[in-house]
Amino acid sequence: MAVQSSPSRAGRTALGVAIVMVLAVVTVAGVRLSMDTTATLSKRYDVNLVAFEATVEVAPGDFMAAYTYNGTIPGPVVRVRQGDVVNFTLTNAGNNTLGHSMDFHAATVAWNLYYRTIAPGQTINFEFVAEYPGVFMYHCGTPPVIEHIARGMYGMIVVDPKDPLPLADREFFLVQSELYDTMDDMMNKTPTYVVFNGFHNRYVHTPLEVGVDERVRVYFLNVGPSLWSAFHVIGTVFDRVYTDGNPRNVQVGLQTANVPPSGGIIADLTFAQVGQNPFVTHAFADASKGALGLFNVTGEGAPPPPPIGGTATVRIVPGAAAKTTDAFDPNPIVVVIGVNNTVVWVNDDTLAHTATGVNGTFDTGLIQPGQGASVTFTAPGTYAYYCLPHPNMRGTIVVQEMAAH
Ligand code: CU
Ligand code: CU
Repeated sequence: MAVQSSPSRAGRTALGVAIVMVLAVVTVAGVRLSMDTTATLSKRYDVNLVAFEATVEVAPGDFMAAYTYNGTIPGPVVRVRQGDVVNFTLTNAGNNTLGHSMDFHAATVAWNLYYRTIAPGQTINFEFVAEYPGVFMYHCGTPPVIEHIARGMYGMIVVDPKDPLPLADREFFLVQSELYDTMDDMMNKTPTYVVFNGFHNRYVHTPLEVGVDERVRVYFLNVGPSLWSAFHVIGTVFDRVYTDGNPRNVQVGLQTANVPPSGGIIADLTFAQVGQNPFVTHAFADASKGALGLFNVTGEGAPPPPPIGGTATVRIVPGAAAKTTDAFDPNPIVVVIGVNNTVVWVNDDTLAHTATGVNGTFDTGLIQPGQGASVTFTAPGTYAYYCLPHPNMRGTIVVQEMAAH
């Protein structure tokens, strides 16, 4: 084999995205927009949820009389893009005993018109524009609200910003909540369980899988109903935390994120070493009631072997997407094994690009703006390459043996 790819944060990107919650609730009117930074058109999404009063397992062998959207705690993740229209329909299942309703924190509407309670067998339909990007709560607002939330009627709506955040290698969606046995317990704030995504120690049973140095993005929502979350990952520091998930509300280098009842965050983090890293609410009385999970970090445990030879740099030039053989500079480039045969691509453009060998000889994966990726060539030859998203971008690497003296 001619080449080795070096580990690269940008190298795994979208293919590695793991979505914990199912997005099946979003029935798309037309085709959902990709995360293309140039896309600007709004879309209209039909989101249909059904209120079910159901029995739900919340810890191994422990079942709760729950109120739900679509039968699960939490309800499904709804995901749209800033500016999109959500055409929402709630059906209160005919065999329910109670009225239910829907309150979308991502909407700006008249409460008495839109968030009114409907009886079993009834349906309500309304539309709203998701104007603000972020991580928002949705929940039943029917009195007593504390009980409808405490019994499970909530979920997360993610509104992706018009100008996307840098791509993450992994995405996870976590909802923290308290589960109670009785109304007295609810009023005294003494939950039986405090959980992530509706189940006691869910991600101890099934840890979240990540790789060393990957950019991990957690969409985190605390639905309460009454306790604050002190979201913390043991053994790392949050690189960035976006309060309520809005890219403009950025904080850096946080050990713990403060997430109030009904608050959300986006937390970006990486793991430097192979191993396990728990995540908790650092309010440890609550963590001990089931708000505990694990990241399994896999990948290269040891640092990669030193490359054979030094490096040569190719710049991906501004405006590269519209260029051909001048998208890469220099092009062609001649490198010599043992001298400079690790080629580093540095992306000076505002779009993500790849350097992908024709016939699959090598691939950097997506290189984000301002980032780089490298490939070490160990066999002589001529390697034609292109950019996967922009195949008009073409380049050539000529790899030579070191000249004999
Ligand atoms: Cu309800
Ligand atoms: Cu490109």
